[in-house]
Amino acid sequence: MAAGLQPREFDDDCPDTAPDRLQELRHDGSVLSIAVSDQYIFAGTSKGEIVVWSLGTYQHVQTIQAHKRSVLCLVLSDDGRYLFSSACEPIIGVWCPRTLARLYEIYSTYDVGDVFSVAYSSRREILYLGTQTQDIQWISLKDPSRKVPHDSPGHPDRRHHRFFDSAAVGGTSTPRRVEEHHLLIPKANSVLEIDPGAVRQYAHFGWVFCMLVAKGPTVLGDPDEEVLVSGGGDGTIKLWRLCDDGPDHDDEVLGDIEEMMTLGEDNSESVMSMAIDGSFLYAGKVRGVIELWDLDTKQKLRVIKAHNGNVNTLLMSFGLLWSGAAGGSASKHSTVHYGRDKHGLAPNVSQKYHQCLSRWKAHDAKILSTAATAYKKDQLFFTGANDNTVRVWRVNGMPTQAEEEAASSENVMIKSLREFVSYKTISSRPEFTEDCRKGATYLGSLFKRLGAQVEMLSTGGLHNPIVYAKFGGKLEPAQQRKRVLFYGHYDVVPADMKGDNWQTDPFKLEGRDGYLYGRGVSDNKGPIIAALYAVSDLLQAKALDSDIVFLIEGEEESGSRGFQETIRAHKDLIGHIDYVLLANSYWLDDEVPCLTYGLRGVLHATVCIDSKHPDLHSGVDGSNMLSEPLTDLTLLLGKLKDAKNHVNIPGFYDGILPLTPEEEQRYDDIARILIKRNPANGPIDALKRSLMARWREPNLTIHRYNVSGPDGSLISSHATANLSIRLVPGQEVEKIIEALKTFLRDEYAVFGSENTLTVRIDNKAEPWLGVPGNYIFRTLEEAVMRAWAPDTTPSGEGDGGDAAGNGNEAVDCATAALPADATDDENKPKARKPLYIREGGSIPPIRFLEKEFNAPAAHLPCGQASDAAHLDNERLRVLNLMKSREIFRTVFRKL
Ligand code: BES
Ligand code: MN
Repeated sequence: MAAGLQPREFDDDCPDTAPDRLQELRHDGSVLSIAVSDQYIFAGTSKGEIVVWSLGTYQHVQTIQAHKRSVLCLVLSDDGRYLFSSACEPIIGVWCPRTLARLYEIYSTYDVGDVFSVAYSSRREILYLGTQTQDIQWISLKDPSRKVPHDSPGHPDRRHHRFFDSAAVGGTSTPRRVEEHHLLIPKANSVLEIDPGAVRQYAHFGWVFCMLVAKGPTVLGDPDEEVLVSGGGDGTIKLWRLCDDGPDHDDEVLGDIEEMMTLGEDNSESVMSMAIDGSFLYAGKVRGVIELWDLDTKQKLRVIKAHNGNVNTLLMSFGLLWSGAAGGSASKHSTVHYGRDKHGLAPNVSQKYHQCLSRWKAHDAKILSTAATAYKKDQLFFTGANDNTVRVWRVNGMPTQAEEEAASSENVMIKSLREFVSYKTISSRPEFTEDCRKGATYLGSLFKRLGAQVEMLSTGGLHNPIVYAKFGGKLEPAQQRKRVLFYGHYDVVPADMKGDNWQTDPFKLEGRDGYLYGRGVSDNKGPIIAALYAVSDLLQAKALDSDIVFLIEGEEESGSRGFQETIRAHKDLIGHIDYVLLANSYWLDDEVPCLTYGLRGVLHATVCIDSKHPDLHSGVDGSNMLSEPLTDLTLLLGKLKDAKNHVNIPGFYDGILPLTPEEEQRYDDIARILIKRNPANGPIDALKRSLMARWREPNLTIHRYNVSGPDGSLISSHATANLSIRLVPGQEVEKIIEALKTFLRDEYAVFGSENTLTVRIDNKAEPWLGVPGNYIFRTLEEAVMRAWAPDTTPSGEGDGGDAAGNGNEAVDCATAALPADATDDENKPKARKPLYIREGGSIPPIRFLEKEFNAPAAHLPCGQASDAAHLDNERLRVLNLMKSREIFRTVFRKL
C-alpha cells in the first residue's frame, strides 16, 4: 500500500451531530435490508419478512412473509416497476412495489446457497445475482422461455440436495422440514428458472457481497454503456461489460457478462458495500474503512477510516456519500471534489476531498442497511439495524450544508409540536409556573410567525395567561365575515418519570411506529398545532374568508381557573363569535372517526373536618368521648352514596333529560359498530348500558383522603377528602352545589360532633350538549368523511401477507391504481359517516363560551382511544395529526 493511503484514526474533526430523528419503526427481527419507493418503506428482516410502512405517516401497511430465511437484499428497479428480494435461500422474489403482489419467483438450477446481492438493468430487463457459491447469474424477465410451471421439478423445494438429502445407510433420507411460516409465503404469479448457461462461475474467489449497475462509470467503456460492478469476499471489485448475447456461448442464452476490470488484490479484506459517483467508486470494507477508487485510472486514491466496525452500507444520495457501520455510526461525506466536471475531465484531487460532514450514533447496534429518498420537501435517510428497528432521519439542513433548507410542511408542523411539547406547562404545580409562562410565550410567537395578531390575556396574575390569536379572513366588508372561535389549552397534567413508566422522556417528542409520544401531544397540544397549521395553509393559499380567533388557556387541567372573568374582561377584543370549535377528546376505538356532541359537567369539592385539639395519641388520648375528624369524615362521606353507586343527595337526579327513542337508537348504532369492529366489546346490551352510564348519567367519585400529622398511632386533628361529581344536562351546577352542601351539613348535624365541617368548591363546569344536525356539525361531518375516505392502499395490518400475491395473473403491477392523493380536498371517494358520541369527561369553558357568545359549539376528537391522555406514554398518531389538519382546513374554509 502506498504511503499516505494508510487508514487514519478519526482525526477528521468530523462533527458529531445527529440529524432530526423523525421516527423509529420497530419490528421483531433484525433489519438486513431497506428499500424506499415514492410510497412505501420496505424492510427485509431476519425472519424472512418484508415489512411495509407508508412513507410520511409511518403507518404499518403490511408484513409479507417473503422468504424462508433472512432477507439479505432489497432492490427497487430504477423505473419503479419491481422490488427484488434475495435471502438466505436460493430463491429470488420479485414484487410489485405498489400492490405488493408477488410477481415472480426466480430460482437457479444450480445450488447457489444464499444470494447476497442483486442488481437490475431496467434497460435490458435483466436481473443479476451474486451468490454464496461465488458466481454471478442472470435472467431476463422478458424471456418467455424461462417460465416454468409452479410445480417444476427443477425448483429447489423439490430438488434433491446432493449433500443434505443424500440417503443414509439403509436408503432413507430425512424429510425436509417445512416450517409453518413457509406456508405463508404468497404464491407468485409466475415462476422463472434461470438458464443453466446464464452463469459466470467463480466471478470472485469469495462470496459476491454487493453489486450495482452503473452507466458509463469509466472512460474505458462508452459513456452510455451499462456496466455491472461486483464486490467480493476476496477483496476485489470487478467491472463487467454487459452483452445482450453471449460471445462465449452459442447456446441461445440471453445476455452475458465479460470482465473488463479488476481492482484490488485477491485475498485482501472483503468488500461489504459499494457506491458509485461518476467515475469514482467507494468501497466499504472491514474495520470502518472506505476506499476510494478512480475507475478511469484504476487507481486507489484514498483509504478513509470512517467508522468503527465493518462498513456494511454505502450509498450516494443528495450529492453526498452516506455510510453505516457495524459500530452503529452513520456518516455523510462530501464528494464534491470528485465529480467529473462538465467537460468530462477528472478534477484535481484537492485537500478537502472526501470531507466528513457529520458522523452520529444512529443505533446502539450494528447498522446493516440504509436507504435514502426525497419526500415532499424533505431529504430522508433510513438506517436499519440488528436492534430490530428502522430509524428515519430528516437530513436537510444538517450542519455545514450552506443553508437550512425548507422542510416539508408536515415536518415543519411536527417540529413546532416538538418545541411546544418541550415546555413543561403543568398548571397544577406551582413550581412550573415559569415553564407555563414560557410555553405561552412560545405559542404566542408561533401564532405571530404564522400571521396572527396575538395578545397575552392576563388572568389577574394569579393563574397562567390565556393566549389570544386572531387570523384575519379576506372577505370584505369585514362585517360579513364569519368569526370562528377555536378553544384549546396549552397546560398539561404532570408526567413524572418513575422507573420505566415512560419509554422516553415525556417532554421530548419521540416518533415511534407511526406515533408521536410526549405529554400533551394528544391533550391538547397536537390538536392545537393541527388547527393552527390548517389556518396557515389557508392563509398561504389565500383561501381564508373567515376570521379565526384562537383562545388557548393554561388552566384547563386545573378547572379553568380565571377563564370566565378574563374572557368577560376582553369581550371587546374578542368581538362577536359565530361558531365555537374545539378538539380535545378521543375516538371510541382506534379505527372509527367520531364527532363529540356532549360532555359531562363536573364539580370538584374538598370536604374538611377540623378538631379544636392538636394531633393526639390514640392510646393516650383516644376514648369514646372524643370525636375524631377522620372518623367523622368517613361516616359523613359514607352517607353520600350507597354500595350500588346511587347518590343520596335529595333532588340529585331531578331534571335529568329522559332518554328519547332517537337517542337510544344512537346508542344502539354505536354499540353495534364497535362490537362489529371488535367482538370483545360485547355483549351489546352491556356495552350500551356502560356508554349510557358514562355519557348521560351523573356520578360521584371520592378521590383522596388527607390527614394531618405523621404516620403512627395518631388521631389527626384535620381530615380532608377530595370528591368530584360528574353532571349531565338537566342538572344545574349551582343547585347541585347547594344540595351537596345542605346534605352534608344536615347529615353532619345529626352526628352532634364537636368538630367543624367545611365544604369548599374547587371548580365547576357545566355539562354541554351540542346539536348534531346543525351547520357546524354538518360541515365537520363532511370534512371528516372526506379526510378519512378509504384509499386503495393495501391494508390488513399484520395479516401475514395473504392480501398480496394471490397468484392471479390479472393483478398486473404496471396497471395497478395508485392510492388517491391524500392531500386533495375535493376529489376523493366518500367514507362512512363519523360516529356521533358523547363523553364522560369535562371541559369547563365549552358551555360558558356557547352562552357568552351565543354561538353553537362543536367538538372534533383528533385522537384515538389508545392515546393514553393523562397517562404514561401519551401519544398521537402521525396520521391523525395530518388528517386533523386536513379536516380543520376544510372546516375553517367552509364555515
Ligand atoms: N380533554 C379532557 C376532557 C375529556 C376527557 C374529554 C375524556 C373527553 C374524554 C380535558 O383536558 C380534561 O382532562 N378535563 C378535566 C377537567 C377538570 C380538571 C375540570 C376532566 O374531565 O377531569
Ligand atoms: Mn386533560
